[in-house]
Amino acid sequence: MQKIYDRIRATGIIPVVVMDDADKAEALAGALCEGGLPCAEVTFRTAAAEETIRRMKKSNPDMLVGAGTVLTKEQADRAIGAGAGFLVSPGFNPEVCMYAMEKGVPFIPGVMTPTEIEQAMAHGITMLKFFPATAAGGVKMLSALASPYQAVSFMPTGGISADNAAEFLTLKNVYACGGSWMVKKDLIAGGAFDRIREMCREAADIVARVRMK
Ligand code: 3PG
Repeated sequence: MQKIYDRIRATGIIPVVVMDDADKAEALAGALCEGGLPCAEVTFRTAAAEETIRRMKKSNPDMLVGAGTVLTKEQADRAIGAGAGFLVSPGFNPEVCMYAMEKGVPFIPGVMTPTEIEQAMAHGITMLKFFPATAAGGVKMLSALASPYQAVSFMPTGGISADNAAEFLTLKNVYACGGSWMVKKDLIAGGAFDRIREMCREAADIVARVRMK
């Protein structure tokens, strides 16, 4: 499992994808990989999620494809069956989280309060998602959480963009950011894969710049 967390950290920005049409999975996966973000969190908010994960993995076997918005054990099973390498949820549901972890698949639960962080820690989960990041206090909140909770780190998601990603990635308790800005639904629906590739490159450059410092 550590290997997966390491890959998420190395990628730095995880594209959060909402797919309406699994037929676009291969082209999108290609654009993400060529753009330098060989990773995706495919959200279980649409019927196409499971098939999208399967097709992304088949067309780009080296890509790290995870599932997002995993709210139930049944969704966790479907995501894992389709080849998801990690699972993410907006909140912390210990039952679903531990179910996936027991199957050997890393689960990154969402938290936004000290109480939720402590609940996750009590279950041995230290790689967390901070959601909804900007609405829940953004960089200030994450900085305030750093001192009391030194054993955990976060993937802020929700409201992250090319304009603020660097501020988040600079924080010591942030291992990656999640965001949909480079994979907006209209870009995917319109087949704007060149633009997606370009925005991924810009995002990958942000990560490289922050990590060089
Ligand atoms: C989501 O819930 O869709 C993710 O948090 C992505 O949020 P964003 O669209 O603000 O990047």
